[in-house]
Amino acid sequence: MRQRTVLVTGGTGLLGKGLEETAPAGVRLISIHQRDYRVKGSRAEHRVLDVRDEKGLRELFSSVRFDAVIHAAGLASVDYVEKHPEEARGSNVTGTSHIARLCREQGAHLIYVSTNAVFDGKKAPYRETDPINPVNAYGRIKAECEEVARRDSGSWTIARPILMYGWNHVVTRPNTATWIYDKLLKGESLKLVDDVYENPLYNIQCARALWACVERKPGGVFHLAGKDTLNRHEFGLKLAGVFGLDASLIEAVDSSHFPSIAPRPPNTSFVTERMERELGVSPMTVEQGLAAMKDSMEIVA
Ligand SMILES: NC(=O)c1ccc[n+]([C@@H]2O[C@H](COP(=O)([O-])OP(=O)(O)OC[C@H]3O[C@@H](n4cnc5c(N)ncnc54)[C@H](OP(=O)(O)O)[C@@H]3O)[C@@H](O)[C@H]2O)c1
Repeated sequence: MRQRTVLVTGGTGLLGKGLEETAPAGVRLISIHQRDYRVKGSRAEHRVLDVRDEKGLRELFSSVRFDAVIHAAGLASVDYVEKHPEEARGSNVTGTSHIARLCREQGAHLIYVSTNAVFDGKKAPYRETDPINPVNAYGRIKAECEEVARRDSGSWTIARPILMYGWNHVVTRPNTATWIYDKLLKGESLKLVDDVYENPLYNIQCARALWACVERKPGGVFHLAGKDTLNRHEFGLKLAGVFGLDASLIEAVDSSHFPSIAPRPPNTSFVTERMERELGVSPMTVEQGLAAMKDSMEIVA
């Protein structure tokens, strides 16, 4: 990749960590987030900057010329967003509006990171051309962000990753894989739903697809996902198998077992043809992704 300066918002999240680990040589990477982290051996220049802070963002954009912006910051916990929709609109919609307008002023390509939660889950597998119809607050807010990204930036690509897994920084929220892994490692039993289906995506694969978007600036919408469509219970069993943990601790339940959480679309699995053809990324099976996670395990002394 030729020399480029790229801004990643939400650079310490699960996806941000993957983007940092896979950043191509020749990219100057600036990473912003809310909390003050010391990321050891970091490849990126980390800065504390809230995406709701328009003045702070304007200062950043006036001191650095960005070729592309991967906008991944925002509240991303489906259940938290359901209970705090106004806070989530601020963090997601306001932040996206600031970023999109600054991209247009500077001529930077915006890659907006959306979600599979924009679909109602009734007609999977979904293509990029299928109509959206979110069923929870998170999905509705992300759909609004997509509109803002389209309307306010001059040049955009919208990437919709599906359920992501991988190693997150210890201070950030766990994901499906790290949560199950921690429970099984402690010998604790857990219940996983068997009626919510996705084709889960390893965060490193998602990052590779987004770097291809930086390189190619394809425009339009991309569905990013893995190869296997399965439910959360099946995912847990595969994880136990790959990591050699006790699968008998995992019990299958249906979604009615968790009445207080946000509604989930039953099947949002994606068709990944566009990702494969235009970004050159082949979907990984869950076993391949989990095995890659296992291979990259680090012991923190
Ligand atoms: N994880 C998934 O399964 C999944 C699936 C589909 C789509 N997505 C989308 O992918 C993106 C990344 O998700 P993720 O799982 O990597 O998220 P995450 O682990 O929850 O990390 C969120 C990141 O955003 C930052 N952030 C939050 N609010 C911010 C604000 N107001 N200003 C600046 N930074 C802020 C956080 O920084 P602090 O920690 O400092 O607050 C953190 O770096 C999100 O847009 C999400 O909607 C995720």
